[in-house]
Amino acid sequence: MRILIKNAQMIAKDNDLLAGEIWLEDNVIHAIGQDFEKQSLSFDKVYDVKNALVIPGLIDVHVHFREPGFEYKETIRTGSLAAAHGGFTQVCAMPNVNPAPDTPEKMQRMLAKIKQEAVVKVHQYAPITKNRESDTDLADLADLKKAGAWNFSNDGLGVQTADTMYRAMVEAAKIEKTIVAHAEDNSLLNGGVMHAGKRARELGIPGIFSIVESSQVARDLALAQSAGCHYHVCHISTKETVQLIREAKKADTYVTCEVTPHHLLLTDEDILADNAIWKVNPPLPRKADQEALIEGLLDGTIDMIATDHAPHAQAEKETNFINGAFGIVGLEQTFSLMYTHFVEKGILALEKLIHLMSTHPAKVFKMSGGCLQIGKSADITVINLDQEYVIDAKNFESKGYNTPFLGWKVKGDTLLTFVDGKLAWG
Ligand code: DOR
Ligand code: ZN
Repeated sequence: MRILIKNAQMIAKDNDLLAGEIWLEDNVIHAIGQDFEKQSLSFDKVYDVKNALVIPGLIDVHVHFREPGFEYKETIRTGSLAAAHGGFTQVCAMPNVNPAPDTPEKMQRMLAKIKQEAVVKVHQYAPITKNRESDTDLADLADLKKAGAWNFSNDGLGVQTADTMYRAMVEAAKIEKTIVAHAEDNSLLNGGVMHAGKRARELGIPGIFSIVESSQVARDLALAQSAGCHYHVCHISTKETVQLIREAKKADTYVTCEVTPHHLLLTDEDILADNAIWKVNPPLPRKADQEALIEGLLDGTIDMIATDHAPHAQAEKETNFINGAFGIVGLEQTFSLMYTHFVEKGILALEKLIHLMSTHPAKVFKMSGGCLQIGKSADITVINLDQEYVIDAKNFESKGYNTPFLGWKVKGDTLLTFVDGKLAWG
């Protein structure tokens, strides 16, 4: 199959946009240049993208696809279609499903299902501990790696016991895998469900203090330093965490981290009522946290943007904070939200956004992709930056439409998503 994408804009050096054509041959990028059609080459398919932006496929290291066990919220098929719609060509799926893929057999079964169902590349995390519930029994990380596990995470829950985390990190270092941590110390939680502050007091909702996250990150940084493993912190949300990671990086700890669009764009002050649409873990932060997260994003303390796409059924979200589920969907709107609120407003260069959503996650996690390079997999996204639209659940591929961003007007719609040269969206 020979495909030509013409009238494309690509990001060149120094953030300039360069007009050109990109030629896909079977599953790889065959050439990037000009006037391929005029050289009397024949193409099976020509896409005139009319000056839309062509970028390396977006990469999200943190999504929830809910299969097996919670197919009413999302499936591998609907989740991966949502990913393609959002311009993602590779995503990494968290293991808080039922059963959790905590043995090689369960992992292989999941990977077979992914192969059958997914329209983008889906990498599958295994849990750190057996069944993800145990806080002491490690899963067999080496066997899980052999079975194809991507990396290891108990996301949704913090690992409460330092000894368990330390043993996991020592093992991860040995097998050259990453511990991807949801940092949350349950002993400090006290039933909190939104950030503890003025707004929580006004609404009469139990609060979560920042130390719930930051104290566990501090512990883990010490453990990771000693174990010598790669420690990646999920969805960081407090200014204390940003500072801890900034300092740890200076001390050469092998640490990376991600931030979500909702922690960058919303604060607890945006919570208008006792409604679980704003309920997410970690909670929407203080203004000062938001500012520190943006600073961390700009100075390189924060390595990447991840959506933490967490679909839930309507009844699980259309309720109050105490009874609702934690989570916000993000695959289908994160690029547009970030483009509109950070690039268009001059906070982030377009090139830096692509770095944070594709190039750098690929580099940190040693994945294919992340750049438009001849001979590499044709994982490519085409975005019409001028296309304005309103975020509307009607247009979602995801089964979940639990997001406080519904109704927001944004720019930058996905036109085409190619995965290994095959059209996954468009
Ligand atoms: O808000 C969240 N939702 N945070 C998590 O850590 C888990 C996730 C989920 O699985 O729904
Ligand atoms: Zn998550």
